[in-house]
Amino acid sequence: MSGKTIRFGIIGCGLMGREFASAAARWCHLLDAPARPEIVAICNRSKEPLDWFTSNIPSIEQVTHDYRELLGNDQIDALYVAVPHHLHEEIYCAVIRAGKHLMGEKPFGIDKAANDAILDCIAEHPEVFVRCSSEFPFFPAVQRIGEMIEANAFGQIIEVKAAFLHSSDLDPQKPINWKRMVDLNGEYGCMGDLGMHICHVPFRAGWVPRNVRAILSNIMRKRPDSTGAMVPCDTWDNATLLCDAVDPGNGDAFPMTLETKRIAPGEKNTWCLEVIGTQASARFSTKNPKQLNLLEIKHGQQVWGQVEMGQETAFSNLTGGIFEFGFSDAILQMWAAFLYELEHGQPLTKFAGCVTPEETAFSHRLFTSALRSHHSATVVVV
Ligand SMILES: NC(=O)c1ccc[n+]([C@@H]2O[C@H](COP(=O)([O-])OP(=O)(O)OC[C@H]3O[C@@H](n4cnc5c(N)ncnc54)[C@H](O)[C@@H]3O)[C@@H](O)[C@H]2O)c1
Repeated sequence: MSGKTIRFGIIGCGLMGREFASAAARWCHLLDAPARPEIVAICNRSKEPLDWFTSNIPSIEQVTHDYRELLGNDQIDALYVAVPHHLHEEIYCAVIRAGKHLMGEKPFGIDKAANDAILDCIAEHPEVFVRCSSEFPFFPAVQRIGEMIEANAFGQIIEVKAAFLHSSDLDPQKPINWKRMVDLNGEYGCMGDLGMHICHVPFRAGWVPRNVRAILSNIMRKRPDSTGAMVPCDTWDNATLLCDAVDPGNGDAFPMTLETKRIAPGEKNTWCLEVIGTQASARFSTKNPKQLNLLEIKHGQQVWGQVEMGQETAFSNLTGGIFEFGFSDAILQMWAAFLYELEHGQPLTKFAGCVTPEETAFSHRLFTSALRSHHSATVVVV
């Protein structure tokens, strides 16, 4: 590992801020990382979450409730911003204007107007490296699917399905939080929360939807607030998007189904991808992280086989090759990809790169069209 250190600040020290801090703390797990993140500053609006950071991360020198204080700190090279969606535009733009590299969280702006403003800001500051978080493509099985896409191993694409399925909102008594409020989470609802995760691989493959027919559901219309009173819960819980996508290899169209569901009984953070082609097909779900299902045509026979996956990671690490891979491993790999691309100016491989700002812009076009499609019950051009 090279000795280069990138000094990071974190704005938003909740669920995801902690995941990054934990990944940075076990950076020694990576064997040939291009650089090392060091967390030197943290910012959170409220005090409580900061205590975990200050008791666990000795390199922290600055602690504040006002993110603007981090922007003026010349000891900070890069910022990870993991705050509610209504703050993305303001804080991401401020970070970029301050000349700090940025890892932003999805959906990268609460709506298309916010995303447009962030992309305009990036265009004005080409010296700043900006990417969006999305960790699931770093599961070894998905990296393998990426290699197959690059090698045209699927032949002509017949159909693609990608889904991200939760059941965390099945309990009607689960108290409402910012992720269930349109003002703070956005009109996209579950698409804004979960959609970028499932668009990442298809968009990187060049499978960009031309049009969409979306069906959105608000299943739990009320939830208790912190006092127990039932209040409106106005975000979309589930979304099914049937898209007409184009294979850039041959210009042929194929159906691509994208599902984001907060209420999918039986599922617990299940990310899955299915690619059906004329020469091969692949299925993967994080439900079975060790299993990659591959259909190959052998001697005229159609044979579904299971490849046992271990630690065939993009960025090598010290875990034994036979051991299984998990969520926090994906987070570590994603951060290695961010630092690799920051250092080298390009990703390690096509599918071992973080989401680009342009890919977030595609997702906003898609989700905005999906809202219009649902409201008009028609197919909408993306
Ligand atoms: N990549 C993933 O897998 C993944 C998973 C969950 C959430 N996210 C995304 O991460 C972002 C944050 O989500 P989370 O789950 O960590 O939320 P969270 O509610 O756990 O944390 C957000 C934190 O931001 C703080 N905050 C709010 N306003 C602030 C301000 N003005 N200045 C500083 N701090 C402020 C809050 O106090 C809170 O601690 C969202 O964009 C969300 O979509 C990504």
